[in-house]
Amino acid sequence: MPSASGTALVTGASSGIGATYARKLAARGYDLLLVARDEQRLSALAAELADAHGIEAKTLRADLSVAGDVQHVEERLRNDPSIALLVNNAGIGPRKSLLTEDVAYLDQMVAINVTAANRLAVSAAQAFAHRGKGAIVNVASAVALAPEIFNGTYSASKAFVLALTQSLAHELRDTPVKVQAILPGFTRTEIFDRVGGSFDAIDPARVMDVEDLVDAGLRGLDQGELLTLPSLEDTALLSQFHTARYALGPHLSNREPAPRYGVGA
Ligand SMILES: NC(=O)c1ccc[n+]([C@@H]2O[C@H](COP(=O)([O-])OP(=O)(O)OC[C@H]3O[C@@H](n4cnc5c(N)ncnc54)[C@H](OP(=O)(O)O)[C@@H]3O)[C@@H](O)[C@H]2O)c1
Repeated sequence: MPSASGTALVTGASSGIGATYARKLAARGYDLLLVARDEQRLSALAAELADAHGIEAKTLRADLSVAGDVQHVEERLRNDPSIALLVNNAGIGPRKSLLTEDVAYLDQMVAINVTAANRLAVSAAQAFAHRGKGAIVNVASAVALAPEIFNGTYSASKAFVLALTQSLAHELRDTPVKVQAILPGFTRTEIFDRVGGSFDAIDPARVMDVEDLVDAGLRGLDQGELLTLPSLEDTALLSQFHTARYALGPHLSNREPAPRYGVGA
């Protein structure tokens, strides 16, 4: 029997944060549609979670750097009315600094972290707004707010996800559709192993356990947070950041250049 919660479509569900969302959502009673490239890992997880929680778990193999595969996932989001939650999580991390990186790898990062994430978030937003229900969790990163400390293309890809989420939430404000961006700091997953790195060089006090990260993300979603920074204790810092951002608002687009440029009258 279909779940009363509906189906959660989780991208990047074969490992790390995505697999952990799948586990936690199955425990909450969601049916699952698990998306990634590694069909074997997806099928094993789907079978395990269906068995453990009595839910329906299906898989959809897709390489999200390939336009045709992204389109298949979009079609599922648009055409399957049981889908009530998108966890827009698949992504790849950086290998080295921009000054030494192969630009083709950065293109691949943009294809997955930006192009695919954008298409899936927008398709879900349109479908959910039409159906009058649904939620979107976009997995950004804390480096969206601190690009100087990390690889620039990766940080920019996550700043894209952050801005997209804020703007979508504004467009969806009069609908019941919920949108959230989660901004993890370092979280112990396979992300660095996949690019020849490791978490071993990082102070363990700065690396969150993936279970804690996803539990905090889901609590943030339950609490209606638009931005969830699981590491941030003092939320006044985030409020001050937004206050400064909003204060800039009326000064961002004027006919005259500012006097310090000495242009015009
Ligand atoms: N771990 C961190 O410290 C951290 C911090 C901030 C944000 N994040 C973000 O969290 C998200 C999940 O990363 P993770 O840390 O859980 O890393 P992970 O363990 O490496 O998982 C990445 C997932 O993305 C999938 N994926 C990668 N390339 C793909 C492609 N071309 N097509 C489809 N799926 C693809 C992988 O599956 P397949 O290989 O089976 O395709 C895997 O399921 C990413 O967006 C990442 O940027 C992570």
